[in-house]
Amino acid sequence: MNFTALSKGVREHLGQRHRYEHCVRVARLAENLARAHGEDARAARSAGMLHDLARLYPAQRLLDECALRNMPVDEFERRNPIVLHARLSAELARERFGVSDPAVLSAIAKHTVGAGSMSALDCILYLADGLEPGRNFPQRAELARLAERDLAAAMRATLLSTMRHLKERGVPASPETMAAAAAFALPTGDLEVRTA
Ligand SMILES: [Fe+2]
Ligand SMILES: [Fe+2]
Repeated sequence: MNFTALSKGVREHLGQRHRYEHCVRVARLAENLARAHGEDARAARSAGMLHDLARLYPAQRLLDECALRNMPVDEFERRNPIVLHARLSAELARERFGVSDPAVLSAIAKHTVGAGSMSALDCILYLADGLEPGRNFPQRAELARLAERDLAAAMRATLLSTMRHLKERGVPASPETMAAAAAFALPTGDLEVRTA
């Protein structure tokens, strides 16, 4: 499927202009970051366009669609079904858009909470999703410039900012985000939120 057909299919699947425009911006930033780091720009662009296919599904639908596919759902995901949209979007990219590239599917599956092991493309999509120009937080532009120069440094700074934000709100980070933070050598102990 060429990129124009892919974009049109995503637009129809999402049924919402706001979310589609986010996907267009993520695709663009992911493509630029891939070019900057000598990674596959087409794969990055496709991953960006497809990353949020399940983002607008309500919690119960996310749980149901995962159950339907026998996807394992852990305790954190059961309590926070929204994070399942990442893994489910990867499944939908495969089923509905014929994506078979494991690198693209992996990036989509890891774009929300990260993982203990992340490829360059995984990092590119994670960063593009968090740092696209439609995001509105003070460090955004600075982090996006950092991502162009140094993926690992941008991952550290972005994970730190995410975990601080979660801690301020008293929301625990997922086990995968903690694993990503550890993999990027962040001191996670003081950022952990403990729940009873
Ligand atoms: Fe997402
Ligand atoms: Fe997104």
